[in-house]
Amino acid sequence: MNKFVKKIYSLNYPKKIVLVGFMGSGKSTLGKKLATKLKVPFFDLDEAIVNQEELDITTIFETKGENFFRAIEHQLLKEILTSNKQFVLATGGGTPCFYNNMKLINENGTSVYLKYSPAFLSSRLIAAKKDRPLIKNYTNNELTLFIEQLLSERESIYNESNFVVNEINVKVDDVLQALKIEIV
Ligand code: S3P
Repeated sequence: MNKFVKKIYSLNYPKKIVLVGFMGSGKSTLGKKLATKLKVPFFDLDEAIVNQEELDITTIFETKGENFFRAIEHQLLKEILTSNKQFVLATGGGTPCFYNNMKLINENGTSVYLKYSPAFLSSRLIAAKKDRPLIKNYTNNELTLFIEQLLSERESIYNESNFVVNEINVKVDDVLQALKIEIV
């Protein structure tokens, strides 16, 4: 084998990897790194919505409403899942919980839930509230309570994922290990 070509060793290497999890779980950052390592395209569902609407997420929520956002999110999710052969996709924190999105994800790809505690998510989100319409108006104390509440509502859906990764700080190698993907 050419030593400069990295080969992926795994019999059933998942071709469509979909990262799910609460806001602040690092789906986009990790997804980009994972896609680079696997040499496959990376899609970010929030980014796809922003590009299509030519508006940021907060403006879409404020001017068109959450229902509109969820409809576009569903439509673009379907498009990405069905019109590409291979990719890593980072979903939004609410994506699996609307329409039949979680079912759609599991029927068309391999889902990985990046699982974190409310305390950890809260510590990450305090610095990243302003671009997230669902949390931007909360004080830091309110934020922790809100995360606990919303995560408890969403967790059973996230848990429908094919794989759950529950490390202190999930790394690309943790996901590869969960998916039994070996790159040599
Ligand atoms: C949302 C999460 C956000 C974004 C929107 C709604 C949610 O994505 O889709 O603000 O309902 O949890 P991130 O998880 O990338 O922050």
